[in-house]
Amino acid sequence: MYLDTVTTPSRDVYAHMIAAINPRPIAWVSTLSPSGVTNLAPFSFFNGITARPPALLFCPSNKRDGTKKDTLRNIEARGEFVVNVVSYDLAERMNATSAEFEYEVSEFERCGLTPASSSKLSVPRVAEARAAFECRLKEIVRVGEGPGAGNVVIGLIVALHLADKVLGPDGQIDAAKLDTIGRMGGQTYARTRERFGLERP
Ligand SMILES: Cc1cc2nc3c(=O)[nH]c(=O)nc-3n(C[C@H](O)[C@H](O)[C@H](O)COP(=O)(O)O)c2cc1C
Repeated sequence: MYLDTVTTPSRDVYAHMIAAINPRPIAWVSTLSPSGVTNLAPFSFFNGITARPPALLFCPSNKRDGTKKDTLRNIEARGEFVVNVVSYDLAERMNATSAEFEYEVSEFERCGLTPASSSKLSVPRVAEARAAFECRLKEIVRVGEGPGAGNVVIGLIVALHLADKVLGPDGQIDAAKLDTIGRMGGQTYARTRERFGLERP
């Protein structure tokens, strides 16, 4: 099978992209509106960039009507966000926060999550998350325009929270204890319990 992605409808290209680019980590992004309403939503077009300086990116696309998602609006207004890590036990609540709530509605309240103070930002993190990255906005790169177009949000990581219970005796993160999930194609997810090692050449 071959696809010319320039002429194929973007909906079909998207389905193939998420079925082939996976498992994708999930950035569960908390933000704060200018009037102080907390917001929380998952984004799986997400990854780290570098540790010098510590930086990551995630990509909220525009909504079907071409307007910006709440997360992006809040980041543009305040220049701050937290990326919370999604462990298996939080999968259902993470999914619940992806519903399109009104801008004035807090997903923390609606979906049963607890806001915890960040150390350097006014934006709260998710208390239940076992890891959370406090980020200051560095740059937004627009890719395309109108409905479905992409926005690459680049954040500088200014603080990292790790629950003590995910650390091994060596002080490093124990993957089994962090127990992250990844997003696959369609509505499916992967757990990260099966691992293997490879020596670097
Ligand atoms: C696991 C998962 C991953 C998602 N990844 C993205 C993504 O990378 N980009 C995006 O624009 N929307 C993504 N979504 C959809 C958003 O979470 C959804 O549009 C949400 O309502 C946005 O919330 P907001 O308007 O409060 O920012 C994803 C949803 C789920 C459940």
